[in-house]
Amino acid sequence: MNISVIGTGYVGLVTGVCFAKFGNKIICVDIDQDKIDKINNGIPPIYEDGLKELLIENQSLIEATENIKSAIIKSDITFICVGTPSKKTGEIDLTFVLDVAKTIAKIIKEKDGWQLIVVKSTVLPGTTKDTILPIIEKYSQKKVGKDFGLAMNPEFLREGIAVNDFLNPDRIVIGTIDERSKEILKKLYKDFSCPIVETTLSAAEMIKYASNCMLATKISFINEIGNFCKKLEIDAYDVAEGMGLDKRIGRAFLDSGIGWGGSCFPKDLDAISAWSKEKNYDSKIIDSVIYVNDKQPLKLNEILKKHMPSLKGKKIGILGLAFKPDTDDIRESRTIPIIKQLLKEDAIIKVYDPKAMENFRKLFPDIIYCKTADEALESDAILITTKWEEFKKLNYKGKIVIDGRRLLEAKKARIYEGVCW
Ligand code: UGA
Repeated sequence: MNISVIGTGYVGLVTGVCFAKFGNKIICVDIDQDKIDKINNGIPPIYEDGLKELLIENQSLIEATENIKSAIIKSDITFICVGTPSKKTGEIDLTFVLDVAKTIAKIIKEKDGWQLIVVKSTVLPGTTKDTILPIIEKYSQKKVGKDFGLAMNPEFLREGIAVNDFLNPDRIVIGTIDERSKEILKKLYKDFSCPIVETTLSAAEMIKYASNCMLATKISFINEIGNFCKKLEIDAYDVAEGMGLDKRIGRAFLDSGIGWGGSCFPKDLDAISAWSKEKNYDSKIIDSVIYVNDKQPLKLNEILKKHMPSLKGKKIGILGLAFKPDTDDIRESRTIPIIKQLLKEDAIIKVYDPKAMENFRKLFPDIIYCKTADEALESDAILITTKWEEFKKLNYKGKIVIDGRRLLEAKKARIYEGVCW
């Protein structure tokens, strides 16, 4: 099939490159010329495990361009994969999605033939049907189902392992209002062996949000249990093991620690919370999940203070700035509130991260950036905030270590305490 993908962030690029693997012809569209050049030269503008190899392998099937018009004219299916960030109020910002929808509509107005438009960007339930569809119909002067197709096909890709998640999904969700769109998407995904959920546009959108909310809930839940366990000197990981064996619960996403960050969970939970207020619904569970997560990183500071009541002038080594290992992404990293608190107490902060130092420097230019993890270890106390593989091999002997991510190798420290164990 001929597919155009609008937006080459990690969702768009992974989607395009993975569809090329199945023999489809892909045109990636972006407004950033640098990204376009890189893709056309076989260099992914973002790091994702396995992406570069797949891009090179399928280079003849992938083209990147700034020209959205020619991309849509040359393709039968268009995936919208642009970002839906948060506004300051927590509400979802639909500017990019709606601008793209309008542009696509104006192009298909002039184009002969049937175009299938697929929303992959994460949008609140009802958005595709009630906001995107009217825009497309207005600006294209065409009718959905008759002249063009519309679908909502959410992504469930984790940053860092997005290629693997795309190629080995637990499920594929296809939300449509017309039969033809559904059949085309089923054909596009025919080589995947997982279940396909066929549903409405709005249910597909809700499946995405409900899934992220559930995963974040599992983490906040185990963190709350973990905080309680800590008081009782129970190891929260033993508890997670015992709970997780119940098939109805499952062990995944029960790693207690300093909470969830990243570009997805915080944005999606804030969006659902803000939206429910707007709809006059009191989203108590989701609000509590956010509340627990906001408090969780500071538990690490509290434990540190037990061992070091005054932090003034004390050197605190921080291992980990990325929101999770194997990425340079620091968005909503749990290390941020920890450092803010340490700065309030006049500690000297020495940080190290294998990939995320440059991004972090933009946020905190005045703390000490260590060249190696060993350099950060030369501190009065050490906080472990991201579970990088590299940190397992360090020598913690003689140190004071407060661990937010369950790095058991650090137990060899002179004083070792975990946040929930
Ligand atoms: C998340 C979801 O896992 C994906 O399914 C979804 O597609 C994606 O958001 C999205 O909406 O696009 P991602 O943000 O890449 O993916 O990261 P995760 O691997 O899910 O981790 C999120 C945060 O939770 C990290 O800060 C991680 O350290 C934390 N976490 C995860 C825990 O604290 N405990 C756990 O047991 C698992």
